[in-house]
Amino acid sequence: MEKKKFYITTPIYYPSGKFHIGTAYTTILADTIKRYKELRGFEARLLTGLDEHGQKIQEVAEKEGKTPQQHVDAIAEYAKNLWNIMDIKYDDFIRTTEERHINQVEKIFDRLMENQDIYKGEYEGWYCTPCETYFTETQLKEGKCPDCGRKVKKMKEEAYFFNMKKYTGRLIKFYEENPHFIEPDFRKNELFNNFIKPGLEDLCITRTSFDWGIKVKKDPKHVIYVWLDALVNYITALGYETEDDTLFKKYWPADLQIVGKDIIRFHAIYWPIFLMALNLPLPKKIYAHGFIMMKDGKMSKSKGNVVYPEMLIERYGLDATKYFLLREFSYGQDAVFSPEGFVERYNFDLCNDLGNLLNRTIGMINKYFGGRLPKYTGKINSADENFENQTIATIKQVEEQFENYHINTALEEIWKIISMTNKYIDETTPWVLAKEEKTKELESVMYHLAENLRKVAIMLKPVMEKTSTEILRQLGIEKEEIISWETLEQYNLLKQDIKVIEKGEPLFVRLEIEEEVEAIKERMKK
Ligand code: ME8
Ligand code: MG
Repeated sequence: MEKKKFYITTPIYYPSGKFHIGTAYTTILADTIKRYKELRGFEARLLTGLDEHGQKIQEVAEKEGKTPQQHVDAIAEYAKNLWNIMDIKYDDFIRTTEERHINQVEKIFDRLMENQDIYKGEYEGWYCTPCETYFTETQLKEGKCPDCGRKVKKMKEEAYFFNMKKYTGRLIKFYEENPHFIEPDFRKNELFNNFIKPGLEDLCITRTSFDWGIKVKKDPKHVIYVWLDALVNYITALGYETEDDTLFKKYWPADLQIVGKDIIRFHAIYWPIFLMALNLPLPKKIYAHGFIMMKDGKMSKSKGNVVYPEMLIERYGLDATKYFLLREFSYGQDAVFSPEGFVERYNFDLCNDLGNLLNRTIGMINKYFGGRLPKYTGKINSADENFENQTIATIKQVEEQFENYHINTALEEIWKIISMTNKYIDETTPWVLAKEEKTKELESVMYHLAENLRKVAIMLKPVMEKTSTEILRQLGIEKEEIISWETLEQYNLLKQDIKVIEKGEPLFVRLEIEEEVEAIKERMKK
């Protein structure tokens, strides 16, 4: 049977400097969802890349005394290396300076010209250089950029425009017919009230103030606006309208496009309209996540409060870093990073709850049964029956949360299983069962512990690959057929040939709170 396809994209990042944990979050989230889909049997494809053109990049390069190309080449190498450290399973990395992209953007521009979606006119407005965006007088906030709060300057130029007005009606209709196109819902309402209801302006899609970009072929003093250039990466990367468009045919429309809340407007308004103009199907869902904030507001170099993923990974490992980020963000909301919060989650969730559960389980199977897992004898009493029922009900919740891409609540549900399993130990008191030689009961408890850990390991796989593998290794569970998602609700799969390791090795070692908080803060200043 042919596998079902799943195409997921991250935004392509500006190569303006290093990526902090906020920016890295977009990609971690996309990677996690891709891994979940793979675990569920999909042929999933993840696209990421770099958005290399525009005035901002040109200016950064100048400051460094480099050509823009030299600068973006260096960042491309840095980015690929970072995704490698973070074990991001991307299938393609597109750079907007690549020929495969440039050629198609030129074609798309011509095509939109021919269809009269693009026309030539004159533009006057307030321009924000860092955001590469023009604003009208009324859009400004206290005379400054409404997106970043920085100074804007008045500019006037001959330019090409995209006829957005023409598509407004169709866009509204599309939203109505596809109520889950934009998530979370409140973002859709914001967009609707702030941009669509007041009426869309035609979009100025060329610039003449700089030249680091894709030129309009027939009028080369105009450079194509970085957002038109950037957005179409999602299809140029698939070989849209090239000789070999196999990937495009196979994967478009995208199933899920992940973006941060700051760029939802481009993805939920302009992007669908560009696609309509090209007569292409729209993505199935655009999901906007929130921002990682610090206690004192946004991360910024000047405040000395920037956290880079490398420093957390180096000191605490990739799994703990990903766990923290994915657990802290509620669907679509902002989250605050604090060193205290990080160390607490590490100690409580990872060391105490998960780590100890594995350790206690392995210790007891060794102590009472010489490391051999007793066989499953069914639900021998109401405690076991309740325990199984509760676990299975919670697994259904985990699955539902993953299906809706609510990764933090999926993790919460997994942790409910971990907690109830720890509680099951405290309530069944295996040490008393051993003393009283209630072997049958003791066997059943040991079996259920190992079995629940198997389930936890499977569900953690998309988020913490290494930890998942390590749990299964320590438990002696290695056969492929018993580590698939489809086996999660089964209780009788572990056979007696299973032998746990002799001495449990801690998954996570407890951190000294004060020492680590200091260590993180120290690294933030650099
Ligand atoms: O926007 N917390 O690229 P970018 C969470 N090139 N996410 C954050 C964040 C924070 N503090 N800061 C940034 C661009 N992000 C464009 C995209 S796509 C056709 C073009 C997220 O490098 C941001 O929302 O500025 C975006 O998803 C990603 O980091 C890259 O941002
Ligand atoms: Mg940005």
